[in-house]
Amino acid sequence: MLHKRISRRAVLMGAGAAATWLASPARALLQAAGRVQVPSLVDPLIARMTLEEKAGQLQLMAAAWGGGVALTLNPPGQGSDFEGQVAEARQGILTGVFNGNGARMARIMQSAAVQQSRLKIPLIFAADIIHGHRTIFPVPLAEVASFEPDLARRTAAAAAFEASGSGIDWTFSPMVDVARDQRWGRGVEGGGEDPLLGCLFAAARVQGFQGADLKSNEHMLACIKHFAAYGSPESGLDYNAVDISERRLREVYMQPYRAGFDAGALSAMASFNEINGIPSTANHWLMTDLLRGEWGFQGFVVSDYTGDEEMIAAGYARDERDAAKLAFLAGVDMSMQSALYRKHLPELVRSGEVPEASVNQSVRRVLALKAMLGLFDDPFRRIDEKREASRSMLPRIRALARESARKSIVMLKNDGDLLPLPRSGKRIALIGPFAAGQHDLVGPWVVYGDDAKAVDLATGVRTAVADPRSVIVAQGSGVEDPIAGGIEQAVAAARSADLVVLAIGESFNMSGEAQSRTEIVVPEPQQRLAEAVAAAGKPIVVVLKHGRALALEGAVADAPAILATWFLGTETGNAIADVLFGAYGPSGRLPASFPWRSGQEPYYYAHKPTGRPNPPGDLQSYKAHFRGIPNSARYPFGHGLTYGKIDYSGLALSAPAMPANGTLEVSATIANRGTRAAEEVAQLYIHDRVASVTRPVRELKAFRKVALAPGQSEVVRFTLTPADLAFYGLGNRPIAEPGTFDVWIAASAEDEGVHGSFDLVR
Ligand code: NOJ
Repeated sequence: MLHKRISRRAVLMGAGAAATWLASPARALLQAAGRVQVPSLVDPLIARMTLEEKAGQLQLMAAAWGGGVALTLNPPGQGSDFEGQVAEARQGILTGVFNGNGARMARIMQSAAVQQSRLKIPLIFAADIIHGHRTIFPVPLAEVASFEPDLARRTAAAAAFEASGSGIDWTFSPMVDVARDQRWGRGVEGGGEDPLLGCLFAAARVQGFQGADLKSNEHMLACIKHFAAYGSPESGLDYNAVDISERRLREVYMQPYRAGFDAGALSAMASFNEINGIPSTANHWLMTDLLRGEWGFQGFVVSDYTGDEEMIAAGYARDERDAAKLAFLAGVDMSMQSALYRKHLPELVRSGEVPEASVNQSVRRVLALKAMLGLFDDPFRRIDEKREASRSMLPRIRALARESARKSIVMLKNDGDLLPLPRSGKRIALIGPFAAGQHDLVGPWVVYGDDAKAVDLATGVRTAVADPRSVIVAQGSGVEDPIAGGIEQAVAAARSADLVVLAIGESFNMSGEAQSRTEIVVPEPQQRLAEAVAAAGKPIVVVLKHGRALALEGAVADAPAILATWFLGTETGNAIADVLFGAYGPSGRLPASFPWRSGQEPYYYAHKPTGRPNPPGDLQSYKAHFRGIPNSARYPFGHGLTYGKIDYSGLALSAPAMPANGTLEVSATIANRGTRAAEEVAQLYIHDRVASVTRPVRELKAFRKVALAPGQSEVVRFTLTPADLAFYGLGNRPIAEPGTFDVWIAASAEDEGVHGSFDLVR
């Protein structure tokens, strides 16, 4: 109970010390959620299993249903035909399949397992339910821009409701890898650059997927991935090596994984990358000493797709047999897709290289989770074709998709209050490759969603304006290639209109797995389109589509209004129109910094100071900055404007010092001096001025979303504890050192807001 109270409060408020996992006393209480109960049926069952059947329980394969469509979502693998896969279920040498298709497939396979296999052990069905099942919500990174973890809990719960109605027991989600290099394409699936935000969203998503009872046919098992540090590959190249200090690993990258486990997630996926020379998949320190020993994780670990086999190419395993042995002995319980465990574990046990007791332990973990999911009680509890249809894209879930989509939009710029646009009396030229058409709407990592069921921008805008004929659409350019006559047509459209909405950016497959970019810019043909359209002299609202933070340039950066809209899913067009025409005031904040130039990457707000910082003002020589640009972001983490006029004043501290066993209240007044309602996200940052290990220039410690009517003001209050001031000191142990701390309550990580200081005293 206590666990629920604390974690839910943190999730709802996004505020205060209870949310900071580092050295938090709440963490110990939260761990209670991750307990596994091993039912009495498990051990007698294991005692009856052959080695082949045991290895089978540790082997997960991509579904072969429908010609192996699941295989197209990953590198082409060894396909097997569906009949062959059903035969494996019958032989008891398969624990389950993933990314299959629906209740019908699941019924055929489950029937084979529980009616025709020797021991009748149910299969588990998994899928990448990353941001929705049939109804698609914004990509996870976009949703983090809401700064509203409870929204993520609700969308995860809705996704679980649809997906568990389709026979799916287990999602490979949430992905909680902190990503600080925007060249890396998979930041789109995660929680952004900040560990606190990452922790809150990780916990919220786990709670949404798993609910209070794993047996419920409305919920499913969550999987924390990719363990560990997958978001920190050298040069942002997907799958690349990670070389990182243990301090940074623990202080930044480990935090959201830990928060996900603390919230009760009972499965984890090993990451593809190596850490300091050892692939995660064979990393005993990571998978056993830390995860199970230090953190007390009781669930099971699955490899990523052929991650065990890939250790051969990575130069760590000699051959397949060696790879299976290394992964298993490190603590990876289940192998995904390579079939290496099924092929080699029995013989590795017979030869004495792998203890049978360890195999039994892994099988026990897997069977315990199948039992906790209710599969031994009723293997068909999530398999029901009628229920599947009745749960698909319900109006209330579409409404949630629209709510989450509009809350994910970040208004980067709004010079001269160009936005919101009037609904009548103006001709609008809607220009760009993303202006119209049912493509690139649902975004990357969608298995079952469908662009054809999503609302495009042109439809959303035409529905919102008084006269749909006032909207002219011109594509102008392809995403990465020009189209013949496109620019001329777009310029003519701009000239004939009163204002331009320019929908440009990245296609869905420019982010996601294996989609690293060297230049994180608007692709060149679209930049040329923007320059030509800008020359027509009409006011421009740029509507960006993107799976990462971008470096904006030229006419795009100079446009008076810019909206960051990511990939918003099923309700894309309606949600953008809601913000464009003011039915909804923008409330999103950036979860990742937009740099001035690509070459700044990895750029993140919580960077370390240097000995030669550039003082405020002009760039100076021999100071830390790249040629010609400040060492800052164009649009920093936490930035986002509203239709109000927000003003911060009156920072107040409850005392000049915080005692080592006490707290400190920090407050400020947030006022809306504009004529429209606004939702402001007040953010509390600290900086430890002098420490035994240098500290970042700022760190987010709490935030609160405040709704303010025109003319309204509110005092926001935060309570800091010594745990909020702690860091991994010498010896890599959390410590809060006495000394002076800066504190800001501000509108972004690089906004001055209101600023003060206090001491932590013994
Ligand atoms: C590889 C990806 O890295 C992982 O995130 C995903 O869950 C698996 N493929 C299964 O599709």
